[in-house]
Amino acid sequence: MRSLRLASFKAPATGFLSCLVLVGGCATSAQPAQTPGAEPTSTAPAPDSGNAGTPDAGTAGSETEIALTPTLREVAPAGFYVGTIAQGGGQMGRYWPYLTMPPLREIISTQFNSITGENQAKWNTIHPRLDAYNFDDMDAMVDFAEENGMRVRGHTLLWHRDLPGWVFSLSDDDLRAVLEDHIKTTVGRYQGRIAQWDVANEVIDDNGQWRSENPWIDRLGPDIIADAFRWAHEADPNAKLYLNDYSVEWDNAKWQKYTEYLPELVAAGAPIDGFGFQGHIDSDSGFPTALGENMQFISDLGLDSEITELDIRFPVDGDGQATAADLAQQAEWFEQAYATCLENARCTGVTLWGVGDYFSWVSNEFPGWGAATPFDRQLQPKPSFTAIRAALSSGRP
Ligand code: XIL
Repeated sequence: MRSLRLASFKAPATGFLSCLVLVGGCATSAQPAQTPGAEPTSTAPAPDSGNAGTPDAGTAGSETEIALTPTLREVAPAGFYVGTIAQGGGQMGRYWPYLTMPPLREIISTQFNSITGENQAKWNTIHPRLDAYNFDDMDAMVDFAEENGMRVRGHTLLWHRDLPGWVFSLSDDDLRAVLEDHIKTTVGRYQGRIAQWDVANEVIDDNGQWRSENPWIDRLGPDIIADAFRWAHEADPNAKLYLNDYSVEWDNAKWQKYTEYLPELVAAGAPIDGFGFQGHIDSDSGFPTALGENMQFISDLGLDSEITELDIRFPVDGDGQATAADLAQQAEWFEQAYATCLENARCTGVTLWGVGDYFSWVSNEFPGWGAATPFDRQLQPKPSFTAIRAALSSGRP
């Protein structure tokens, strides 16, 4: 096995903006995170601009000798999707490090055969005003995927978060018309190029109720979900259409509601193809024991499934580091997650929600937590990387 070391990059302990300044190049493109309703204030930086990601082999964390070959996509069973995200947007503003940082770009393009936009296809990014779409960042991601032989997952069309403010001032009729237009325009634009869409995301809350913060469900009723599937299907009849959520890897109130709702949706003839288990795991809860069983429920319904946003977070110190024991535990759980999917013939892939701890959304949304991805803050592989490769190498039973 060839031992290949990637150039690392130097990341400070805290704060995205300070990193962006430190590594140069990206400093001018860094913008504060978009707030709902705010219009994008700048476009993404041009690929390879500046010196972002300059190799810095001397940084802490770069001593680990973990071979990066064979790559994850090379060892995966034929047809299995080994995914990650095109990192950027969200907490990084209009900055897309997956395009501008050579080491990150190399990991993503060599290790993975599927990509999801972290924020590229969200309303705030592509539909800043009622009468204006902006597909620049999404086009760049789809081009990147095609250059590197990757499948694209589109994420997401009907969600309660990252919505521009103008959505909330519409009448009910306009709200419905705008959703239909948004779905048909977006899915139609990428017909044949985006293979799978998260049509609806997080529609049920933790208490097993329709999510009241979702303006479409709240104002138009839950039947809007089936309509959204129909509109997406009309725009691209070959795209695989998914419903996606978090905390569905347990037997809880949310999952119970899905066990009632999904059979109804299927029986009503909605063109749904699969269910996405996001898979945001935290060390307090441990490995989600019902994942395999819930996945089986989905297969028994005649649907596919994927793990769509896998990351496993731990408490971290002031430098964003988890303990060695925690990293060993993390590796076990990553292996278990991939194995659970591989064991189910209708689980078609696993997508990681990020491949570098420095860029992960976790520290932003869960202060005090981090280290959630299989690559450390200097983009060096962690034990979890080896564990994932082992699971993929074992293939399907
Ligand atoms: C997160 C992104 O990672 C952040 O950059 C953004 O600020 C907020 O959204 N569930 C989802 C994803 O479906 O879209 C979320 O992504 C993480 C939780």
